[in-house]
Amino acid sequence: MTLTITNIKRVGSDKTESVTIENGLIKGWNLPAEGQTIDGQGGTLAPALIELHAHLREPGQTEKEDLASGLAAAAAGGYGTVVCMPNTRPVIDDPALVRSLIEKADGLGFARLKPAAAVTRGEKGEHLTEMSYLKDAGAVMFTDDGLTNENARVLRLGMEYARSLNMVISVHAEDDALRAGGVMNEGAVSEELGLPGNPAAAAAARVARDMEIVALTGARLHVQHLSTARELDIVRDAKRRGLPVTCEVCPHHLDLTDESLRTFDAMYKVAPPLRTRQDADYLLEGLLDGSVDCIATDHAPHTRAEKERDLLEAPSGIAYIEIAFPIMWTRFGERLGLEKLLDLMTAGPARVMGWPLPSLEAGSPADVVVLDLDTEREVNPAEFRSKAKFTPWQGQMLKGWPLLTVVNGRVAYRREP
Ligand code: DOR
Ligand code: ZN
Repeated sequence: MTLTITNIKRVGSDKTESVTIENGLIKGWNLPAEGQTIDGQGGTLAPALIELHAHLREPGQTEKEDLASGLAAAAAGGYGTVVCMPNTRPVIDDPALVRSLIEKADGLGFARLKPAAAVTRGEKGEHLTEMSYLKDAGAVMFTDDGLTNENARVLRLGMEYARSLNMVISVHAEDDALRAGGVMNEGAVSEELGLPGNPAAAAAARVARDMEIVALTGARLHVQHLSTARELDIVRDAKRRGLPVTCEVCPHHLDLTDESLRTFDAMYKVAPPLRTRQDADYLLEGLLDGSVDCIATDHAPHTRAEKERDLLEAPSGIAYIEIAFPIMWTRFGERLGLEKLLDLMTAGPARVMGWPLPSLEAGSPADVVVLDLDTEREVNPAEFRSKAKFTPWQGQMLKGWPLLTVVNGRVAYRREP
């Protein structure tokens, strides 16, 4: 299959060009148009985004999301590849399940699925999964995300196995006893509202512990969703020591703060919680200076009925994979610059995983996105492909909307004119 995208600009260039894609690869630039032709409307062509942290809820919680809705949403957000989290029902801890998810996703034609598998069976934190078989089945990462690796010895053993398999473990680093069921950041706002707080120390203490396990095992560890300044300092220190550690920050921890909880709306309940403006600004500095390796969304859909429960009862999670790039570009594009922002959402995640770096040169895999960097549009969650049709950014004007996402040479998303 051949596809030519005309009327586009390559990232970093002002020239209007065309790109031809054939058999899943970029064939070349400015060739005579061939096959299906799509007008790129003057948009910017970049490598498709890579998501290392999304909850797609299949199997078992498909009232919240499923592979079709989640991967269609990802493609609409400009993502070509999604690593899905294993905290499903049952947990993704079985090689046959990994294979069946990949096969099912392949048939859908949206973003490509690369499942993460659990570190421990059932994410119970007791017995390790069959990591080698899970890797053979196509699992790309191990994590008990959603839960918090309370048993340091079990995590150590998992990291030793992961190291022998040359695989990355990612961790949701919060000390569960210290967070003590807090429903928001512990601080002035939680005290004023009288809501149980989850202290920054719960995250920082856990990251500090995990850095020692990295030093002990030499295994590659990826720290998910940093939310506090202290965590970033600890990760920076570990990197200075030469430890093989990487980290991600989520757009919601940059753009939203604990002030949002004044609404008492559980839409803003997320783990780890939204923190202070100082934390958010500090994390943005980490993106700028390279100490944060990538941006991930932690897309965590729940049903509207679940999120309409009160703050104490509602589950944690914010879902917004379709608008992650527009949020980042609109809010932080000027500070970060386009090339840095795209690096954090494409090459950054690839480096974390040890994958080949995305490229737009002839011969590279044809996973690309065309972005409209200029047109402001209102966020309308009713249009979301995701089953979670509500978001903190509803009604906001954002720019940077994907026009076209191509995955493996095939159109995975095209914005209707
Ligand atoms: O807010 C969150 N939601 N944090 C997690 O770690 C899990 C996720 C979920 O699965 O809903
Ligand atoms: Zn998490």
